[in-house]
Amino acid sequence: MSELKTAADWLARYDAHNTPWDRGSAHPELVARIESGVMAPPRAGARALVPGAGRGHDAVVLARAGWSVTAVDFVEDLAVDASRALAPFGGTFVAADALEFTGEGFDLIWEHTFFCAIDPAQRASWGAMVRRNLVPGGRLEALVFPADKPMETGGPPFGYGICELLVALGKGFSLEQESALESRLEGRDWLELLASFRLAKG
Ligand SMILES: C[S@@+](CC[C@H](N)C(=O)[O-])C[C@H]1O[C@@H](n2cnc3c(N)ncnc32)[C@H](O)[C@@H]1O
Repeated sequence: MSELKTAADWLARYDAHNTPWDRGSAHPELVARIESGVMAPPRAGARALVPGAGRGHDAVVLARAGWSVTAVDFVEDLAVDASRALAPFGGTFVAADALEFTGEGFDLIWEHTFFCAIDPAQRASWGAMVRRNLVPGGRLEALVFPADKPMETGGPPFGYGICELLVALGKGFSLEQESALESRLEGRDWLELLASFRLAKG
């Protein structure tokens, strides 16, 4: 696979419509969890951050469910369409390096194919971004993919699992739930897990 490091690299893939990660809709597991109520906002105005949001399909579903959503992606050309999709539900798209992003304090971070998209050398920065942006007691919900891809095969997508997330997150986080998704999505050749982490209250 060609190198995917800079915003320009990713933009070239979007421009070429070579975006196999983008199904044109939110991840069905996220939709199911929202519909079942387990990912309902804990209170009015609760904030959710979606780093590496791409076209913002997941972010829109979260915003429609009542979360006050900030979607971040460093491909500026995604901003117009993503902002237009989020605006009716009060969501915002920020064109920025998500690893450097600092917001107001989020109750939820939704991780989906962002961790696997960054260079493994940047994983500590990803963990720092999560720690910096979650409020005490906040939760990280991660759709872990590709969970059974050998690390040595490179990427993106770079293989990883719960251990790599815990190492990147550091102290203060507990793994509350972990489950393998039973059915594989079309075009996803590797295992998907869903993992819920909670940042200690203090
Ligand atoms: C594999 S795509 C996943 C997009 C989206 N989460 C989805 O599921 O459709 C990875 C996304 O991360 C973005 N990205 C990669 N590195 C980034 C960074 N440092 N800051 C912000 N966005 C980044 C890319 O532009 C791309 O849109």
